[in-house]
Amino acid sequence: MMKYFLDSAKIDEIKYALENWKINGVTSNPKHIKNSGKPFYSVIKEFATEFNSIDFPISVEINPHLSTANEMIEQAKKISRLSHNFVIKIPCNEQGLIATKKLTEESIKVNVTLVFTASQALQVGRIGAAYCSPFIGWQEASGVDCTQLMSDIILTYQNYGFDTEIIMAAIRNGKQIVEAAVMGAHIVTAGFEVYKSSFEHPFTDKGLKIFQDAWDDTELGSL
Ligand code: E4P
Repeated sequence: MMKYFLDSAKIDEIKYALENWKINGVTSNPKHIKNSGKPFYSVIKEFATEFNSIDFPISVEINPHLSTANEMIEQAKKISRLSHNFVIKIPCNEQGLIATKKLTEESIKVNVTLVFTASQALQVGRIGAAYCSPFIGWQEASGVDCTQLMSDIILTYQNYGFDTEIIMAAIRNGKQIVEAAVMGAHIVTAGFEVYKSSFEHPFTDKGLKIFQDAWDDTELGSL
């Protein structure tokens, strides 16, 4: 079954979606943590303590200014020690992929982020990272249709039996969720409101009103 990850750094909405929507994990990034209004390290320590008792992958990004593989590895190791749930987000550039290869060899889970092409995704799979995150919404917002990209990545991974899970990221609407599911993506990640609207439809509300009116006009008898 395709997993749903919540793109968020807000503990209250993560808890709500975990309890009520059966979400399977969290992806965060520096932008989400900034939007939470709290200091970066306070948020990730909260992630560590709040979900300590369950298996719940939480992606946490390293400092995006780090430019060498060694710097990335050093910080990734420090962050990963804070929680058994932490997956370290590393950018998909050459140094990031070197860092990912080494961290993966040491069994530290990496989510390679900011993936925009199938050739980037191929290398992520070849080095066996835990997750690969192609950013769908960012490209589609600028008019690029990502259906070919999604299917190329999924097909490539199937061809070679990679263990890496594909997270279709920055998902903005129900249509993109369904496209990912039809193609067999392992995971989608989207914001709270995207999931909420994907569960609803105006005709459902309209239909409910029709049935409520009928209910009100019907003699109920006794149960
Ligand atoms: C995924 O891992 C990213 O955090 C995310 O999807 C980025 O998209 P955003 O623009 O919704 O933050």
